[in-house]
Amino acid sequence: MDNLRNEFFHRLLIDSGIRKDMRVLDVGCGTGDLSIMASELVGDTGEVIGFDISQDALAVAKKTVVEKCLSSVKFIQADIAELPHNFGVFDIIIGRRILMYQINTAQSIGSLLPFLSRNGKMVFQESDCMAASFNSTMLPLHTKVQNLIWDTVAKEGGNIYIGMQLYSEMKNAGLKISLLRAEAILHTYESGSDLGWVAKMMASRMIKQNVVIAEELDVETLEYRLQEERKKSNTPFIRDMAFGICAENRK
Ligand SMILES: C[S@@+](CC[C@H](N)C(=O)[O-])C[C@H]1O[C@@H](n2cnc3c(N)ncnc32)[C@H](O)[C@@H]1O
Repeated sequence: MDNLRNEFFHRLLIDSGIRKDMRVLDVGCGTGDLSIMASELVGDTGEVIGFDISQDALAVAKKTVVEKCLSSVKFIQADIAELPHNFGVFDIIIGRRILMYQINTAQSIGSLLPFLSRNGKMVFQESDCMAASFNSTMLPLHTKVQNLIWDTVAKEGGNIYIGMQLYSEMKNAGLKISLLRAEAILHTYESGSDLGWVAKMMASRMIKQNVVIAEELDVETLEYRLQEERKKSNTPFIRDMAFGICAENRK
């Protein structure tokens, strides 16, 4: 499942031209998947800084880095809106599912720009709710859980249409788009799916936003019920419409 979760961004990063020795900033790094991916690509002579507002997520990220003995990556608690001036500049600024949670996308991109080197690149992957409308009637539980996730993000103030807006947001920030792609991420019975895991992680947020009650979601049995539905339906599930962009600072 890790491969399925990270494969799109890995390809995006390689195609965007990440190389050894580069300095990379991971925006809203969460538990550090992308920072670790980037640190493997820039090597010991490169540097990766991941930042996030959540101490809990950073604690997991820091533990993983120690376990993997990665010396070129470090994690810092920070908010996009108030980044430390001494960060320096980066060859690549990366992020996944982070702009979708910002109230003002343009402002967030604007606050990252001072940290992007000349000819530096912003490489982002964001999700868009459009995939939820493509799903089959053969997968009612999957469709329901997918919709609960998007309803929660929308109620929290997230931008559930960010995928299609990335192009104009980056252009409006004065960047030159060098790569733009969107891909449906399909999950099957054989591949497994992170849908149940994500729903479990988001359960308290779903309940707080009144999109579902705990008994109806029943997270303890959800993973099994989803798996059974994939097995019985013999149908792939469109888990996500992943949007990827690489935008360059030509100034
Ligand atoms: C969906 S998670 C994605 C985590 C990571 N990028 C990944 O793909 O695995 C979104 C992350 O953004 C962080 N976040 C949200 N708003 C933020 C902000 N204003 N500044 C820094 N981090 C933020 C959250 O704490 C959370 O860890």
